[in-house]
Amino acid sequence: MPAAIIDDLRAAFDATTVLTGADIDARYHTDMAGVPVAPPLAVIRPRSTEEVSKFLKLCHQARVPVTTQGGMTGLVRATMPLPGEMVLSMERMNAIEEVDTGGGVVVTQTGVPLQRLQEHVGERGFMFPLDLGARGSCTIGGNISTNAGGNRVIRYGMTRDLVLGLEAVLADGTVLKGVRKYIKNNTGIDLKQLFVGTEGTLGVVTRAALRIFPAPAEQQVALCALASFGKVRALLDLARTRLGGDLTAFEVMWNEYYRLTTELVKGVAAPLPTSHPFYVLLESSGSDAERIRNDLEEMLEQALEQEIILDATIANSGAAATAIWKVRDSSTELGRAIGPNSVGFDISLAIDKMEAFADTIKSELKTKIDKDAYAIVFGHAGDGNLHVNAKYPPTVDRNEEVTKLVYGITADFAGSISAEHGIGLLKRPYLKLSRTEEEIETMRTLKRALDPHHILNPGRIFTV
Ligand code: LAC
Ligand code: ZN
Repeated sequence: MPAAIIDDLRAAFDATTVLTGADIDARYHTDMAGVPVAPPLAVIRPRSTEEVSKFLKLCHQARVPVTTQGGMTGLVRATMPLPGEMVLSMERMNAIEEVDTGGGVVVTQTGVPLQRLQEHVGERGFMFPLDLGARGSCTIGGNISTNAGGNRVIRYGMTRDLVLGLEAVLADGTVLKGVRKYIKNNTGIDLKQLFVGTEGTLGVVTRAALRIFPAPAEQQVALCALASFGKVRALLDLARTRLGGDLTAFEVMWNEYYRLTTELVKGVAAPLPTSHPFYVLLESSGSDAERIRNDLEEMLEQALEQEIILDATIANSGAAATAIWKVRDSSTELGRAIGPNSVGFDISLAIDKMEAFADTIKSELKTKIDKDAYAIVFGHAGDGNLHVNAKYPPTVDRNEEVTKLVYGITADFAGSISAEHGIGLLKRPYLKLSRTEEEIETMRTLKRALDPHHILNPGRIFTV
């Protein structure tokens, strides 16, 4: 069967589109941590929606499973090929087709890297607000499939909120042409939502119409040091009140995150001393440069006077702003720097529970895992989303034990086991902690209806 499908693919596509054997580069089967799995049966690199359709139709007929790949920066092993799978790489479908500044829409193929799309609309005076540390490699298709969140959710929402229309190919090759450029469209079931955040299990997104906004004339970035999480909350309240819609990021870092990132990750400097209990990165953006600067300065002065913050630095140049962002954007690099025997988490929970949640994790890691275990906590506090990196001394693999401990605490604090990274293969055993049996069964019903032979990213999120 595999040999037959390879022959069919070779007959249907040119030689640069179908890679097999030694022509398959390691990047198609290596994850973010640099750990490879066995190579896929073949890698297919289509250039058009028609080619995606033709490919899926063949796989559907031959019952050959497929995993669709973007930039491979996901954190839940959703796109690492399982034995016997084909890889559908979207890397050659990277054309940005139209920037409609009047309508505030960009239309693009989905293999384009996020940063290239940001820069492309930026050259036309606009911004695509989705932003995350992996911007250089992650693709729009991956962002859509995972409903990526990132740094500006507090102002612009998740990827879902930026998607106006999608073109998607179903498992049997059917093309749904839904690249529509308007917000309002109450004409029945909103089919594009089937493909946002569903990790490639219901279809392959090939083109998208996305919202863009006039680029702000001014973007100010500040880093603040604080004595307690209570003060972090007070600063968020103050920033929301004083800056309103100009507040475009509010990122919190517990001391361990800030200290270890600036110590261990190459090229990351510490804009403030590393001894403070908490740090907040704050960004304010808008069209009136002077007002943006003044409002931020006055807000921080008030925060200092009221002893909400201990110290602050406002970036006085683009390079200084980049240096501050670099601390927060280096979470994956920090994960790599602290080495194995660590587990990353991506938790949603109410902001008034965050402090006790983090304290409980830190103390239970020590009492229940190892006295030298510790947790690095940081995240998008303004969105109710914390990331936790739980590290234990290099002994035996205790990842499962650590995961159960952290998710038990997450349940105690009524949190969700994934705020933005998704479920993939890695968190599948725990999906039931955040979704009801009826909800998961409804997901299966959708899967059976749209992908009856289970060829699209099978086993990711749930099994059928
Ligand atoms: C971050 C990634 C891990 O926020 O989601 O740094
Ligand atoms: Zn994040």
